[in-house]
Amino acid sequence: MCKEIYLDAPNIGRLEKDYLSETIDSGFVSTFGPYISKFEEEMAKYMGAKKAVSTQSGTAALHVALYELGIGKGDEVIVPALTFIATVNPVIYVGAKPVFADVDIKTWNISPSEIEKRITKKTKAVIPVHFYGNPCDMNEIMDIAKRHNLYVIEDATESLGAKYDERYAGTFGDLSCFSFNGNKTITTGGGGMVAGNDEKKLEHIKFLINQARNESKEYYHPEIGFNYRMTNLEASLGLAQMERIDEFLIKKRRFHDIYKEELKDIENVYFQEEYEEAQSSWWLSCVIFGNSIDIPLLQKELKNNGIPTRRIFMPVIEFPPYENYKKRDYKNSYYIYERGLCLPSSTLNSEEGIYKVCKMLKNILLKRGEGKCVRSI
Ligand SMILES: Cc1ncc(COP(=O)(O)O)c(C=O)c1O
Repeated sequence: MCKEIYLDAPNIGRLEKDYLSETIDSGFVSTFGPYISKFEEEMAKYMGAKKAVSTQSGTAALHVALYELGIGKGDEVIVPALTFIATVNPVIYVGAKPVFADVDIKTWNISPSEIEKRITKKTKAVIPVHFYGNPCDMNEIMDIAKRHNLYVIEDATESLGAKYDERYAGTFGDLSCFSFNGNKTITTGGGGMVAGNDEKKLEHIKFLINQARNESKEYYHPEIGFNYRMTNLEASLGLAQMERIDEFLIKKRRFHDIYKEELKDIENVYFQEEYEEAQSSWWLSCVIFGNSIDIPLLQKELKNNGIPTRRIFMPVIEFPPYENYKKRDYKNSYYIYERGLCLPSSTLNSEEGIYKVCKMLKNILLKRGEGKCVRSI
């Protein structure tokens, strides 16, 4: 019997079940309990950051990070045009204005030269997104930020375990944000984290996400806070997943290598590329079809053969709340969205399953993909 193929399903095993049932038995299932600080300490240690604060989601992490840095009305924040909507909405939550920059056609990451073009007197921060786990050109970005006195908030929600210049993604900016949503490299069910080296700011974030509650006085709230806390139940799941992170990263890299090797002879198929200094976590392995093949039709055909895929994110400027932002300046973002596809990348898959995906893809492409090249990268 053929085994199921998974796109981005979580990999939950015995260890996770043991930790979860231990937590349930302890009664500490909510926002108080020993696993929360353990998970935070483990994460900080793993990535080499001074401190990490767990949150309810990656979106909450991005919101509170912007809030902590004092970004608000009248400020501009540079974001990539090609990202998940949750990178951008928090900029609106704090009352600032997102300014979109195009991405690089090879790495699919926000392009440093595009960042520089969009800087004005009002620019306060930049949010580089390590897209699908692939680290941005952080040396360049940090250099630009330093020259223009900008904050950098890394959107590392997709890139736990990725490295740039021998350092983990999420250790470059003023603050960095992670997501542990069910489809990410490790999951807590739903959850996020803010990490960095500014212990004072992170300490304050820890206070803010707990309704800005002063621990020394009962139910005293000297500031406006949020309820953005992770639960002990979620943190216990996260701790079990962190014990398996190396296993997950090795698998994801292996899957990416198989795709590259197996599809290398197919004309006009391009992969997301790493910068020389970077080592992607390959959260998702994705390709661009530089020919005229109909992507929705290809998706349908793959689905009919038991192979799930997903489209690359639609550029954020396509959505009604952002439609006033100029559109066609973002040709690389549109090209990657229009011609790209994410392939099965869940660590539940076996190598055999990934070979099966490649075989099916090759069959379909050879059968139909003889359209002329629309653009070579
Ligand atoms: C690039 C990016 N930013 C932010 C988020 C938000 O994370 P969460 O879903 O945990 O709120 C995600 C996760 O889906 C993401 O992919």
